[in-house]
Amino acid sequence: MKKIKIAIAGVGNCCQALLEGIEYYRQNPEDRRGLMNANISGYQVTDIVPVAAFDINAEKVGKDLNEAIYSKPNMAYRYPGVRVGKSGVTVQMGPVFDGYPEHLAEFYDVAKETPCAVDRVLKESGAEMLLNFIPTESHQAARYYADAAIKEAKIGFINGMPTLIVCNPEYQKLAKQNGVPLIGDDVKSQFGGTAIHRALATLMHIRGVHVTETYQINFAGNTDFANLMARGKSKHKTKQEAVTSLLPYPVKMSTGFTFVELMKDRKTTHFYFNASNFGNAPLHLEAKLEVEDSANFAGVMVDMVRYMRLALDRGVSGALESACAFLTKHPPVQMSDSAALENLKQFVSGSRER
Ligand SMILES: NC(=O)c1ccc[n+]([C@@H]2O[C@H](COP(=O)([O-])OP(=O)(O)OC[C@H]3O[C@@H](n4cnc5c(N)ncnc54)[C@H](O)[C@@H]3O)[C@@H](O)[C@H]2O)c1
Repeated sequence: MKKIKIAIAGVGNCCQALLEGIEYYRQNPEDRRGLMNANISGYQVTDIVPVAAFDINAEKVGKDLNEAIYSKPNMAYRYPGVRVGKSGVTVQMGPVFDGYPEHLAEFYDVAKETPCAVDRVLKESGAEMLLNFIPTESHQAARYYADAAIKEAKIGFINGMPTLIVCNPEYQKLAKQNGVPLIGDDVKSQFGGTAIHRALATLMHIRGVHVTETYQINFAGNTDFANLMARGKSKHKTKQEAVTSLLPYPVKMSTGFTFVELMKDRKTTHFYFNASNFGNAPLHLEAKLEVEDSANFAGVMVDMVRYMRLALDRGVSGALESACAFLTKHPPVQMSDSAALENLKQFVSGSRER
């Protein structure tokens, strides 16, 4: 079975958790805990290999990728006992655009190198897909990477952050023209705030409970949260629409993000629901989740990459609707998680095209 060659834009905590996590399963081949799927049509997690990476941080650019993932300000959870050797991939300087807002300047300096031509590096590396992990609200940079993959290098594109690329009909059209599959937008983490909020809202709905208002408050101490506090507009949108789209009536929803330095990459989410039960009797629900934020992202990414590879093997292009619906917050076609999972199983078996 051929390896799955990936390129990554944004060597931050999610990248660290993904690459070290793949190594965890390589070093612990019998361990299946934490995987949604050990095997997807013959592809293992350990078949995923990075062949190119881009960042703008002076501590990361020019280093071997597996050294860069441990450079400041990265702080993702370290999987017990895992040692990562050199990857042979050097982190290239990407174009900065809007990826370095003032509020992130206290965390790192921008590298002085001239930005590379990302499309050329993608072509030369043999990457089959580009994974976009750059900071939320870096819309210009996100579109640059999407263009480099979809328009120029003509490789798959996975959008891990909330800029609407895969939901944009123009990118969908272009992807079909160029034979390129897409998954996005914005990862719905493995067992995260969005997945749980959706499950609770669905349960209330099928049990006849009417949700009047609901909110979700998230705290963590990583750079994603420092960024989300200052500019989180698109993340509020993807999170809220992921929940409100499930209920067949308008519901008020708020989402909040707070940076708490000492929490590092451990994220806490509080969920609140005010609702009406039988006879309009009041019902109040609160729940709390604590999770390693970036590992929670990586658990989804290892499946997304393998679904994209299946699409490439089969010559399927455009948005992979079932994978998008099950694994992202803001897919082109929103559906219940049970319907999305059923469709995704059909996609894997080959009875559904996308
Ligand atoms: N559970 C999760 O952590 C989770 C879930 C869903 C979505 N996401 C999204 O994934 C993205 C990455 O999250 P993270 O925690 O790894 O963030 P991070 O801040 O740790 O990493 C972002 C990386 O992008 C780099 N970068 C900034 N501008 C760039 C540019 N123009 N070109 C190349 N690199 C650039 C930064 O230097 C940094 O290394 C965010 O948009 C986040 O909202 C994360």
